[in-house]
This record gives sequence, C-alpha cells and structure tokens, in this order.
Amino acid sequence: MATYAVIETPASGTNNPPPALSQRGRAGLDILGSIQKCASSDLRERARANFEADPVGRELTQTHRADLTAEEMRDRLAPAKAAAQKDPIYRLERFCQRYVAEENFVRGVRAIEENREAVLNFLEATPAGEATIQFNPEVPLPDYYDGVEFHLEPGGWDGYDLYGSVLGMAIGPRVFVHGGYAAVGVGDNIAQQRVDAIAQLPKDRYERVFEPGCGSFATLAAVAARFPEAEVVGCDLSLQALKGARALAARRNLKAVIKQADALETGEPDASFDAVVTYALHHELPIEANRKLFAEMLRILKPGGDIVMTDPPPLRAVSPFHGVILDWDTEHREEPFFTEACLANWDEELRAAGFEAVESYGLGKDGYPWITRARKPA
Ligand SMILES: C[S@@+](CC[C@H](N)C(=O)[O-])C[C@H]1O[C@@H](n2cnc3c(N)ncnc32)[C@H](O)[C@@H]1O
Repeated sequence: MATYAVIETPASGTNNPPPALSQRGRAGLDILGSIQKCASSDLRERARANFEADPVGRELTQTHRADLTAEEMRDRLAPAKAAAQKDPIYRLERFCQRYVAEENFVRGVRAIEENREAVLNFLEATPAGEATIQFNPEVPLPDYYDGVEFHLEPGGWDGYDLYGSVLGMAIGPRVFVHGGYAAVGVGDNIAQQRVDAIAQLPKDRYERVFEPGCGSFATLAAVAARFPEAEVVGCDLSLQALKGARALAARRNLKAVIKQADALETGEPDASFDAVVTYALHHELPIEANRKLFAEMLRILKPGGDIVMTDPPPLRAVSPFHGVILDWDTEHREEPFFTEACLANWDEELRAAGFEAVESYGLGKDGYPWITRARKPA
C-alpha cells in the first residue's frame, strides 16, 4: 500500500523550494485526486448500503464475528465479492480506483519528466545534513519482490529513476492527500496516522529505533520527532526509496542511518535496538517472509525491547463489505500478498516467533491504521 510522504518546503537551512509542476501537470493530477475522493466517499457509501441491502450481503454482515478463523473468512469472501459485484455502483467505484491507480503513474511521471532538470537540481541542492546512507547495490532481491509492479508502478519500486519525486511532489500531494485508496480512509491524514502509530510505543525514551522497509523515511521522521534523542536506523531494498529517505532525513536535519539491506537479513548485531517499528510493510511480503522478518526483529531487539507494527486491518476486524474492498487490491492494484496478510493473525505469529505481551487494535475508521504491538521477553 503506497503511503508516501509529501515533499515539503523549504529544505532545512536552504531556500530551495521544490520545482513547481506545470499547470497541465497539476490539473491532470488534481482531477485524479477528485475522482478518487468522490469514488471513496459518495460512491463507496452507496455501494456499502447496497451491499448491506442485498440478501447475501446482509446475511454475511449480520453473521460476521471478530473471532472468525482465516478459513472461515476465506470461505465468506467469495460470496461477499459476488454480492458486491452485482451492484453497478460498486463496479463504478472500483473502475475509478483502478483508473486512478494506473493513471497516477502516467501523469505523475510526465509531470516530473517535463521538469527533469529542475527536479535534479533541487535534489542535488538538498544538503547532506547528518543522515548517513549506505548503498549496497549487490544486495540480492527476494523472489517475492524482484520484478513485481507493486501498486501498478511500471517497472516496480525502482522502475524509474525519479519515482521518489513522482510520489513526493506529484501523486502524494495531489492524489494520496485525499486518502480513500487501499486501507486508507477518505479524508485520512497519512502523516498524522504515522504520528499516531508511533505514539503506541509504550516507553518514554528509546536509544536506538530500527525500521525495516523504511521507504521514504516518513515513519522514522515521526519517530525522530517523538524521540529526538534516539538514533534512528532504517533499511530498504529500493534505491529510489533510499534516495527519498536521504532527502527527507537531510531536510529535517535528522541524525539517521539508512541502509540498503534486506529486512529479513539485516546484518545488524544481536540485541542492538530497543525498539522496532514497521509501517505498511507486512502486506508487501508473503507469510513465510514475514515469519523470517519477525525472527530477525526478535534477534536485533534487546531483551525487553518493543515492536510496534502498523498495517491494514485483518479481515476479521472489518465488515464483510470493507473486506471486499481490501481484498480487491490483491488482484487489481498489484498487491500480491494483501489478502494473505489480511487473513493472517499477526498476534499468533508474533507469539510463535517468541514475543510476549502481544496486543492488537485499530486506531481509526474501518480498523486502519491497525496496530500490533509486543515485547521481546526480558
Ligand atoms: C509501502 S512501502 C512502506 C514504506 C515505509 N515503511 C513508510 O512508512 O512509508 C514498503 C517498503 O518496503 C520495502 N521492502 C519490501 N520488502 C523488503 C525487504 N525484504 N527488505 C527491505 N525492504 C523491503 C519496499 O522496498 C518499500 O519501500
């Protein structure tokens, strides 16, 4: 699920605003934002009402329970999808979602490309600050990652050299800013959601905090704001994400270390962090990879260290109609592991990995952001 930070001005210590998009570029993206907002508010609510008025949809809604097993949830998904599909309003809403998801990149890349020189100058003029970045182009890409066009991003995470700018300067501030895609509710503020997620870390002080799959660094920036004395360390596989992370860390003048590394095999020493945070990561990985990730996070945490994970909610925690909406991303927004992740029980997985004091809950409407937090035994 794409949850990108918006590039803001000015860069710390400079008067270096990002280049303005052309009028055509702005207008083309703004209309996508409007389509998405209309689809996920008015049309979505009408589709929800129609689903709940349909005999099958009503029966599924009335018999839904938060303790349904993954098998039961899976069995109930097919009739729920069929009931939703009967409704032309639902189909129109989904058409809008797919259209916007694809067109985001067509228009976003064009808007940045026509400003290429200015964007490159802006990126170059960003001061290095105290952020350290460790590139490692030799790091092997896991099979589940290599060549997959997550979110319909042509060529995958690194398919275009200015994807960071496409997301941070074009799609982020003009389309994603409205919410209303994947698990993000319409009108949700994705920057505030990160702040709210970080507030779930239970202690008042942390010395070293790690984020696997840190992407553009927006979540670690929220960690640094909440715990200014902490050293923040993140890893990601994507070169474009790392470049964006460095720019954001530099603009905020953060003391940060960003590494091009596999979250499943970080290379960090045993017991070297007192907290791990994750944001919008687990649904991008198959279950087996998540299990390896949990083992790795347990290894690098100090005894008594905390983990706070934020991801889309489990299907059992949302209405059957919203379950259909979440499941849709798997096939239609190139999110191969989305349904599998929403059927997983992260509480049980964390306990099986060796964590204790596991608990989970939703912070907002329709269970998003969904928090799972736990502790490494002391
Ligand atoms: C949806 S983004 C979320 C980024 C970030 N956590 C945030 O808050 O914006 C998921 C990120 O996970 C990264 N990722 C996926 N598998 C990974 C792995 N095995 N190791 C490191 N990063 C990984 C992707 O490259 C991508 O940048």
